[in-house]
Amino acid sequence: MQITVVGTGYVGLVTGVTFAEVGHEVICIDVDSTKIKMLKRGEVPFYEPGLQQLLVHNLANGRLTFTTDGDEAYRLRDVIYVAVGTPSKADGAVDVSYMEQAVVDVAKAIEEYTVIVIKSTVPVGTNERVRAMVAQHTSCPFDLVSNPEFLREGSAIYDIYHGDRIVIGAEHERAAETVAMLHKPFGTPIFHTDPRSAELIKYAANAFLATKISYINEIANLCERLGANVDAVAHGIGLDRRIGAQFLQAGLGYGGSCFPKDTRALLHMAETAQSDLRVLAAASTVNERQPYVVIEKLKKRFSSLRGLRIALLGLSFKPNTDDLREAVSLVILQELQAAGASLIVYDPVVDHPKGNRVLEQVMFAGSIDEALSGAEASIIVTEWEEIKAFPLARYKVLMKEAVVIDGRNCYPLAKAEKAGVEYYSIGRPAVNEQQPSQLLKQ
Ligand code: UDX
Repeated sequence: MQITVVGTGYVGLVTGVTFAEVGHEVICIDVDSTKIKMLKRGEVPFYEPGLQQLLVHNLANGRLTFTTDGDEAYRLRDVIYVAVGTPSKADGAVDVSYMEQAVVDVAKAIEEYTVIVIKSTVPVGTNERVRAMVAQHTSCPFDLVSNPEFLREGSAIYDIYHGDRIVIGAEHERAAETVAMLHKPFGTPIFHTDPRSAELIKYAANAFLATKISYINEIANLCERLGANVDAVAHGIGLDRRIGAQFLQAGLGYGGSCFPKDTRALLHMAETAQSDLRVLAAASTVNERQPYVVIEKLKKRFSSLRGLRIALLGLSFKPNTDDLREAVSLVILQELQAAGASLIVYDPVVDHPKGNRVLEQVMFAGSIDEALSGAEASIIVTEWEEIKAFPLARYKVLMKEAVVIDGRNCYPLAKAEKAGVEYYSIGRPAVNEQQPSQLLKQ
């Protein structure tokens, strides 16, 4: 089929590249000409494992092209996917202006029946509203389908081929079948529903997962008080298939471009509809507080953080991505800067990003070794494979004081014991903890 994808951000590019990979003919359009030039050269503007190889492959076989020209992209296509950004406004509402502009541009250009698909995450009711807008700008027949995205950053290509479901919200069977056909090569189960329900499925799914994370983080904080181990508790409850083992990894809270934004948007939607979402509101508050457990642990261990040399490992909001949106690392760094700590950071991929106020004021190390050398405390924020595989014994050798605060429970407690480091993690007993009285004596 002939497909157009509007927007070459994360979702749009992954969608376009993988549709081309399974044999469709794809044009991707974006208003950003610099980005389009990069993509034409086979360069991906962000880090996503496996994406560049697929991009290069499909540029070479001619199934994938890039343009900034609306006429070329929108005329005589079977399906037009809209995958532009829908950022948060200050009050949590969703800014759908880019999406609306894109759809109006599409409406003005189409010359025959076209299926327009909204891939962007949009508030419930958007499909209906936008349908009316399109009708104002074209006399061509069209259908507007909602087809939300469930990809995870860092494993998007894997997820495309191993998805749990494709959700298609359409008014008419013809359009629903067209979108289902597109996805056939991926072999993913398809769930057909109405557009409003499809829109809400996306938010409700992300909010549920976010709630699961906040729940286990609260249980982790309780474990610390009660002397239990959250890894064991999570495993024990996850064995119940009604609960499931996934998304029970205690840590410093969720970040990224989806969970924080989508939970805020759903809370805003509920408020507007005069319906309380108390569980989600609590999950969101728990998440805002969770990064501060690191600061509390540091403050308990050191009388003052002023001048303390702290190494922070992992900046991206999760492994296998360079995305810093709503990254927990930034919250922690800001707090430590305010407390006067001397900070050195290391991330396997994020390196001196421009225009970030917090990161402009920290030193970047070229390796874990360099970050840890001479440090008096270290914090593991993102569980990159390289960071998880780094031997704890090296912390003991490199650091001035081997105080390790592991915000992602990367190491078994027995390893910390063996390495002789002072080790604090999330929801698990401390290892070789130094009591304040012992510290005062030193
Ligand atoms: C998420 C959804 O998983 C995906 O379906 C949706 O399309 C977009 O939002 P993503 O944000 O890429 O994907 O990452 P995900 O792997 O879900 O992790 C989100 C955050 O939750 C990360 O900060 C991660 O560290 C955190 N997390 C995840 C936990 O703290 N514990 C867990 O058990 C799982």
